[in-house]
Amino acid sequence: MNERVLVTGGTGYIGSHTVVELINSGCETVVVDNLSNSRIEVLDGISSITGTRPAFDKVDVCDLDRLRECCRKHQGIKAVVHFAAFKAVGESVEKPLEYYRNNLISLMNLLLVMREFEIPGLVFSSSCTVYGQPDRLPVTEESLIKPAASPYGNTKQICEEIIRDTIAASPAMKAISLRYFNPVGAHPSAVIGELPSGTPLNLVPYITQTAIGLREHLRVFGNDYDTPDGSGIRDYINVVDLARAHVKAIERLLENRCRQPYEVFNLGTGKGSSVFEIIRTFEEATGERLNWKLYPRRPGDIACVYADASLANRELGWKADTPLDETLRSAWNWEKNIRRTMKR
Ligand code: NAD
Ligand code: WQD
Repeated sequence: MNERVLVTGGTGYIGSHTVVELINSGCETVVVDNLSNSRIEVLDGISSITGTRPAFDKVDVCDLDRLRECCRKHQGIKAVVHFAAFKAVGESVEKPLEYYRNNLISLMNLLLVMREFEIPGLVFSSSCTVYGQPDRLPVTEESLIKPAASPYGNTKQICEEIIRDTIAASPAMKAISLRYFNPVGAHPSAVIGELPSGTPLNLVPYITQTAIGLREHLRVFGNDYDTPDGSGIRDYINVVDLARAHVKAIERLLENRCRQPYEVFNLGTGKGSSVFEIIRTFEEATGERLNWKLYPRRPGDIACVYADASLANRELGWKADTPLDETLRSAWNWEKNIRRTMKR
C-alpha cells in the first residue's frame, strides 16, 4: 500500500506507533498535531525506527483554515487516521466544555475537509468506554452503548454518531471506528512510548514510574470487586498490535473491502487481567519489585471489562498476539530509556 495517509495526533502515544506501522507498510504519512500532549522529538524516534521522517505540520485540527491549508499542501491524501483528542476521563469531568470543543470540533473539521478534498476513508479512535459496565462479557460490538459516565466518554459516543450520519449522507466516503480497550506497552526499540504529562492516571505508566522511583508506591484501587482476586479486570492490548490494526483498517477502506460504509470493531486481546496479575507479571518480566498499597475503589471504575475481538480477527485479519510479559517489559524498557534521555 503506497498511499498518502493523514494522521492527526500522530506524535501522540498511539499515533506515533501507528505512523511507524503505516510507514513500514509502504504508506506515505502526513502527521498533524498541535503538540498539546506530545513532543516534537517523537518524530526523531519515528525516523530512527523506520528510516523515514514523516511530513509534519503543527496544526490544531480545530483550526479549519489551517487544516485546509495542510490538505492543499499535501495533495492526494487517500485516508485519515484521527487520533487527535483530549483523553483524560477525570479531567473531562472538570473541563467538559474544553473536551466537547476539542474532540467534537476537530472531528467535524476533519469530515468537512475530507468532503472538500475528496478524501474517501476515515479511521477513528474510539474507546471501550462507550460500553460502560457491560451486562455481558466479553463485550461484542452489538453490546448496548450505555449513557456515558464522563464527558470524555460522551465525546466518543457523539463522534461515532457524527461519523455514522455523515457517512450515510456521503456516498463517496467510508469510515471505520476502532474501539480500543486498554492500550499499553511501547515499541520494542524503546524509542517511542507513552509519556504522560504529570502524574499518570493509567495503571501501566504508574507502575513503570513507581519502579523507576518517580512515585513512591502504586495505589491499587480496590480489592473488593466481584472478581477472582478482588481487583479490577481489563483487557490490556499491546500498542504495536493496536497500531497494526489501523494499517489493516486503512487497507480495508482503500481496497474497497468494507461490508458497510461505516463499520465498528473492538480492538482487544479477548482476555482480561486483574491489577494483581499485572503487578505479578510486571515483576516476573522485569525482575523489579514493585511497591504497592491498597486504596479504596477509584470513583467511576467498573469491575471488569474485556473484549470479544473476534469480528476484528475475522474481518480485519488481525489479532493482538504479543504476550503480556513482553508488553510489560517493553513499557519498562521505554521508561528506562526516556528517563535516561531526559537526564541528558
Ligand atoms: P495522546 O494524548 O498521546 O495523543 C493524542 C495527540 O493528539 C497528542 O499528540 C495531542 O497533542 C494531539 N491533539 C489533541 N488535540 C489536538 C488538536 N485539536 N489538534 C491537533 N492535535 C491535537 O493520546 P493517545 O493515548 O495516543 O490516544 C489517541 C486517541 O486514542 C485519542 O483519540 C484517545 O481518545 C483514543 N483512545 C486512547 C486510549 C488510551 O488508553 N490511550 C483508549 C481508547 C481510545
Ligand atoms: C486500569 C485498572 C484501575 C491506576 C481508561 C479510560 C478508558 C480508556 C482506557 C480512553 C483499573 C486500576 C489504575 C492506578 C490502579 N481510555 N488502577 N491504580 O480506567 O480501565 O480505562 O483508559 O478511552 O476510557 O477510563 O484504565 O489504566 O486507568 O485502570 O489500581 O494507579 O487499574 O482501578 O482497575 P481504565 P486504567
